[in-house]
Amino acid sequence: MTTLAPVGATPQPGSTTKKSFGKTPDGQPVDLYVLTNKNGAEASITNYGGALVTLKMPDRNGKLADIVLGYDNADGYVADKSYFGALVGRYGNRIGHAQFVLDGKTYTLAKNNGDNSLHGGVKGFNKGLWAAKTLSAKDGQSLELSYRSKDGEEGFPGNLKVTVIYTLTDANALKIEYTATTDKKTVVNLTNHAYFNLAGQGSGDILGHLLMIDADQFTPVDAGLIPTGELRDVTGTPFDFHKPTAIGARIDQDDEQLKLGGGYDHNFVLRRGAYAEESPAARVVEPTSGRVMEVWTTEPGIQFYTGNFLDGKTIGKGGASYPKRNAFCLETQHFPDSPNQPKFPPVTLNHGERYHTVTTYKFSVEK
Ligand code: GLA
Repeated sequence: MTTLAPVGATPQPGSTTKKSFGKTPDGQPVDLYVLTNKNGAEASITNYGGALVTLKMPDRNGKLADIVLGYDNADGYVADKSYFGALVGRYGNRIGHAQFVLDGKTYTLAKNNGDNSLHGGVKGFNKGLWAAKTLSAKDGQSLELSYRSKDGEEGFPGNLKVTVIYTLTDANALKIEYTATTDKKTVVNLTNHAYFNLAGQGSGDILGHLLMIDADQFTPVDAGLIPTGELRDVTGTPFDFHKPTAIGARIDQDDEQLKLGGGYDHNFVLRRGAYAEESPAARVVEPTSGRVMEVWTTEPGIQFYTGNFLDGKTIGKGGASYPKRNAFCLETQHFPDSPNQPKFPPVTLNHGERYHTVTTYKFSVEK
């Protein structure tokens, strides 16, 4: 049974603690929920943008390090332009020309990324205050976050009710379960935008991390990072991660797609299909600490992004700075621009249907 310890209490193994995390610009209180599992691993989550603020996991000697980028208080998340740890919606990733057509009606969104819409628009779900509730979980600590996105918000149709449940399990996994319903046909693509550095946040670049992605194809992009519609075979390209390969091994190769992304910033077509059971999508090993992260998901795609837009100017947790490629993201998702790509798995949600996806980040060590 989850107990909610009083503000300011020291987290105990197998508990959830609530702390003040600051205020929104209009003065509403923002909280931080610190989930601690039986091994002392920790995940802390703020109700501002539903962001994962810290994730502390052991290395091969049992030493904990915080392995996600973030900020020390709500102000950091209010100012953030990188989506550190945030819940992203209503449509994670890009929609080309910031518009799409549903049942013959054109919906126009804000162009907040060149000519395109990115990550839900100007005020996406990452800038909203979510309602939070601790839940009892049999195998760990859970936090339920809810958000109501109004019909017309950021140009999307339909009142959307969204619930996200984060669970830190006693087996050192972070499970994220997304549910949504609408009262009118809409498009939905929810994800979490955690930036990982398995050696510890602020400890340097991630080019030596070894990555495997269970994908035979990726979706090549144009100059605005919108998929061309092609599903391209990864064989013989720097996008082949069938075998564990250092992220930095090919990142600066003379490759048209890497140049367009400024590194990796691409959606991979996972070998599994949509809406089956969760299955393995990616595995990352950080050789110096021995930390291993596996990503399991029900989603058909994963955006692999190597922090190409990080510039070292943002001050993060504990005064850390985050230069280019100091973290990587593996954002589970439906493919970018799906509302305009009839051949991609559909992202429409009808009245009466239930959107439900699950992604789990599982942590372990290699000796
Ligand atoms: C996603 C995008 C990137 C970038 C980051 C946020 O991963 O694909 O291009 O916008 O979000 O900075």
